[in-house]
Parts: sequence; structure tokens; C-alpha cells
Amino acid sequence: MKYSVRLSVAAVALSSALSGHAVAADKLTYYCSAQEDWCQLMANGFEEATGIKVNMTRKSSGETLAQIKAEASNPKGDVWWGGTGDPHIQAAEEGLTEAYVSPMRGELHDWALSQAESGSDATIGIYSGALGYGYNEEVLTANNLPVPACWKDLTKPEYKGHVQMANPNSSGTAYTTLATIVQLFGEDEGFEFMKALHKNINQYTKSGSAPIKAAARGENTIGIVFMHDAVKQAASGFPIKVVAPCEGTGYEIGGMSIIKGARNPESAQKFYDWALTADVQTRSLEVKAYQVMSNKGAESSPLAPDLDSLTLIDYDFAQYGSSDERKRLLKKWDDEVSVLPQ
Ligand code: G6P
Repeated sequence: MKYSVRLSVAAVALSSALSGHAVAADKLTYYCSAQEDWCQLMANGFEEATGIKVNMTRKSSGETLAQIKAEASNPKGDVWWGGTGDPHIQAAEEGLTEAYVSPMRGELHDWALSQAESGSDATIGIYSGALGYGYNEEVLTANNLPVPACWKDLTKPEYKGHVQMANPNSSGTAYTTLATIVQLFGEDEGFEFMKALHKNINQYTKSGSAPIKAAARGENTIGIVFMHDAVKQAASGFPIKVVAPCEGTGYEIGGMSIIKGARNPESAQKFYDWALTADVQTRSLEVKAYQVMSNKGAESSPLAPDLDSLTLIDYDFAQYGSSDERKRLLKKWDDEVSVLPQ
């Protein structure tokens, strides 16, 4: 008995050594740039479904890109899931992520596949959501402020100190805001808008959704965020109203990418395929993540903003996700907007 157990242990060890990665396949280092509760649900769900041990870190989209870049000579992460698509496309262009053609592609919307095209197969779309803003109705009334309806309303002097957004260097949400404004108004007028808005900003946060969480707590009035992030706060019982700006708006296609040189490439591919299934994407509703999911069979909530009824710009992901353009716009914002007095 003892002998046969020892023998089978030896056989497993031998086959592991021969295949070279059977031991490594039971771990996954997962970088997440979506909402913390959704990141956690995905980590736990994958562990439960596969038995693969997940080590998860949540950071904003721009921060995660910076981390992957800093670790490029000795990669520590395996898969990057969530966050806006532009930095995923930049990572693909800079050779920081690995091409992978998932067998799940046939179940996805075209917009998810077009991200793969822009990123030479090294990224893919997992969800989509429109940009806008939300405000705390009670705080607005208490301050005798009019209800804002347009982007340009946010630059009016009466909103001074009442508007919050994230820093576009760290946050994909805020970079999407900058790129949307530039595409909507043109670059010169767009930067004039960002400068006027700057006068009203009470704080640039690190994470994209922080401004609407602060508004929900009554610590801020208006938060520039993805509309679904504002809907989540309203659905959680906070006095938050959601605005689709009257001039029209931009949107994100959230990304997923496998990191080049991943230590656990098999686990990364397993996670990637699993994350694209309809059932897993439908679980987003458990944490009130109201994006539109990339699998055509995933369920959506009636509370989710209906992208078809919004005036959306034709957001150019290939251009605004390109390394040169993203760096150029961020530098210009750093040099010409963030340094101005408020
Ligand atoms: C929130 C949104 C996501 C978005 C992400 C970007 O989590 O729900 O749709 O992709 O923000 O995060 P960041 O902190 O980079 O703006």
C-alpha cells in the first residue's frame, strides 16, 4: 500500500518535471483595474471553478500599465483584466502583452474584437460603458446649485469646488474624459475646456470611480465618471442622479490582456477564456457592475445605461490608445492644465 502511494507520487513528480509546467499551472497572478468588488468576485470565482490559486492586485488602468512596464524585464503578473481599453492597446503596441486568439471569440460582440484588431491580438474587449457624470441631489440642493445637463455647464463659476474627477495619468476613466473632450470639441477648444474645468475641480483622485463614491457619501457634489459607476451608487440607495451630457459623450471598451513573459501562461489563458464566457460575465450583476458585457449571451440589468439611446462620439480607440498619442495628451495636460492655479 505504502509502496504504491509512494510510486504514484513519484510518477506525478516525474510527469510534472517532464511537462515542465504542470506545477506552475496551479497559480495565477492577476492584475485588476475594474471595481474592487468585481475584481474580488472574479478572483474567487476563478479559484472556485479551477482550483488555481489567485493572487490579485487592484490598481487603476494607468497605474497598472506603469507597473507592467516597470516589471517588463522580470514580469510578475500573468493576466490584466479590466480597466479602460486605451492603456491595454498601448501595452500591446509597446510589446508588454502577448498575442492570444481565444476560442471564445465567436461569442463576442464586434466592438470587443475590434480592440483585438487595434492591439494586434494582444488585447480584447470585455465590456463597454459610456462616460458622463453624476451628482448628489441633496448636496446640489443644499448649495442652491442648478441641475447641470451638459459638459459645458461644469465650467460655470457657480460649480467652483463642486466637481471632482480622477487624474488622467493614473486613471483610465479620466484619460477617457480627456480624449473624449478633445474628440468632441477639437484639441484647442478641448484644452480650453479642461483649463476652465480645472478651476472648478476640488480634487483629482487616483481611481476613476472615487469621485462618485465621494459624492454618494456627501463629500463631493459632482463626479465625472462612467455612467454605470454613477448608476451603481444610485442602485445602492444613495441620492445620486446620472447625467448623459447634452453635447454627446465618449465611451470605453474595457480590456483584458495576457502579460508577456507571464510565469503562469496556461493559467492566464484559462482565466482569459473563462472570463469571456456568458455565465461569468453575467455574474457582474451580483456586484452591480452595469457595463454592457462583450459576450453576446451575457445578461444585462434593466438599470444598465442603454448605449444605443445615447449620443456617442465615434471614439477612435486605435488613435487614443496609441502610445505616442496617449503620452502626448497626458504631457500636454500635465504641462498646460494641472499646473494652473485654481
Ligand atoms: C471603474 C469602471 C470601469 C472602468 C474602471 C477604470 O471601475 O466601472 O468600467 O474600466 O473604472 O478605472 P480607473 O481607475 O483606471 O479609471
